Amino acid sequence: MSKLEGKVAVITGGNSGIGLAMARRFVNEGAQVLIVGRRGDAVDATVAELGPRAIGLTGDIANPSTHDRVSAAVTKRFGGADIYVANAGMNQIRPSGQVDIDEYDAQFATNTRGVFFGVQKIVPVLRDGGSVLLVSSIASAKVLDGHAVYAGTKAAIEAFAQSWALEFKARGIRVNVISPGPVDTPILSKLGVAEDDRPAFEAGVASAIPLGRLGRADEIASAALMLTSGEGSFITGVNLRVDGGIALT
Ligand SMILES: NC(=O)c1ccc[n+]([C@@H]2O[C@H](COP(=O)([O-])OP(=O)(O)OC[C@H]3O[C@@H](n4cnc5c(N)ncnc54)[C@H](OP(=O)(O)O)[C@@H]3O)[C@@H](O)[C@H]2O)c1
Repeated sequence: MSKLEGKVAVITGGNSGIGLAMARRFVNEGAQVLIVGRRGDAVDATVAELGPRAIGLTGDIANPSTHDRVSAAVTKRFGGADIYVANAGMNQIRPSGQVDIDEYDAQFATNTRGVFFGVQKIVPVLRDGGSVLLVSSIASAKVLDGHAVYAGTKAAIEAFAQSWALEFKARGIRVNVISPGPVDTPILSKLGVAEDDRPAFEAGVASAIPLGRLGRADEIASAALMLTSGEGSFITGVNLRVDGGIALT
């Protein structure tokens, strides 16, 4: 039997990279999904690819009203949800001395506030026994150049997850975190690396990873499936690194 048969999952950032890989995997495992992203064309294209078990919602997770719309949409269409994956995020690499307030606020608004209010708004419509998964980063545990603000945004959500694992235990809702290492997704193109420099950049990153390569989005989706499905039924409050071992270096 499929691992998510009859389940309903909400995935923020389900229109690209890691979130898209999760949406594909979850649908293949029998789930119905609602994906959220800001770019309506990318949301629509993903829904068209995923088929009739997927719906999309265009919105900015930094805006708390988006989360009200998500909860209303998933309730109207599916009667509630079983899985919430707070995956959407952004990363601006800059030495701390060059970070301005707008850039700082933008990263915290998306990566931290967006996760907090997303979970706050979904939990009332999440069915008992459900599962929450937050996508963090190894950047919170391993110091990377220019990642101070990003690391702070992710460290905060790891702390949220620990609190929530206990807050929601009475309803059997499990709360876990995945911390990916470098994964080959469109986020790499948004880091400001020129396309011509990309092969050298990726080779440099790969050489720092004990397994010798960047991760694939579907490898993060595999871990997400384990944690959110019945396979992870006795796991709550963990932060699972899926990073090719880079946090050890
Ligand atoms: N790739 C890596 O190496 C890596 C490593 C560690 C952690 N992560 C984390 O993994 C998660 C997914 O990253 P990715 O690599 O898959 O990046 P990606 O391909 O750039 O995808 C990011 C997704 O988040 C959505 N998004 C971003 N800001 C949003 C906002 N304000 N409101 C709504 N949706 C928003 C984007 O959709 P729109 O553009 O349409 O809004 C997109 O679907 C992020 O939290 C990232 O920090 C990635």
